[in-house]
Amino acid sequence: MAKMVSINLLVIMSLVAAMPWAQSFRVENWATKLDSKKETVTNLQFYFHDTVSGKNPSAIRVAQAADSEKSPTLFGAILMADDPLTETPDPNSKLIGRAQGIYGSAAQTELGLIMAMSFCFTDGIYNGSSVSILGKNSAMNPVREMPIVGGTGLFRLARGYALAKTHWFDTTGDAIVGYNVTIIH
Ligand SMILES: *[C@@H]1O[C@H](CO)[C@@H](O)[C@H](O)[C@H]1NC(C)=O
Ligand SMILES: *[C@@H]1O[C@H](CO)[C@@H](O)[C@H](O)[C@H]1NC(C)=O
Repeated sequence: MAKMVSINLLVIMSLVAAMPWAQSFRVENWATKLDSKKETVTNLQFYFHDTVSGKNPSAIRVAQAADSEKSPTLFGAILMADDPLTETPDPNSKLIGRAQGIYGSAAQTELGLIMAMSFCFTDGIYNGSSVSILGKNSAMNPVREMPIVGGTGLFRLARGYALAKTHWFDTTGDAIVGYNVTIIH
């Protein structure tokens, strides 16, 4: 009996300790230290469809240097993208979100893009959550790594990395890229 009681007490004590306010305390009138919850690691795998050609491009050139066209890497050109993210490489597969933001040619001697984009998810529990990607994308390398520098919703306080692999591309510049993203949040 006594053992039961002490076990129950232990359970209650650990529940109290796990309550979000248990560790919070005010340090100034305007500042409170909050108890931090445990971090989660999430891996996401999806495909990014970047269409620059045709009548309905998902990425459009919005600025460029006077002589960008003379550069083999289009150095100085900047595109604004609203690219669909899908579950499989098939463009008609389930839409799970959109990659919205800018990328531009930031390298003179290779196709090196600076990517500043928000990957905004719209499927399932991640609907409304996003991660922010900021870094260089050496588009001709088989695998590129870019940093995840933040997030919103379920991905608040995110940090992590994205591995990008070109799945398909053609001479117009259209491409389908596989993304494998690992996030701590
Ligand atoms: C995602 O959330 C928006 C806004 O709450 C809602 O309109 C939309 O139907 C949701 N989409 C999915 C696929 O659940
Ligand atoms: C995705 O990335 C993770 C972590 O870097 C790795 O363990 C896994 O093998 C990758 N998956 C694929 C399909 O490339």
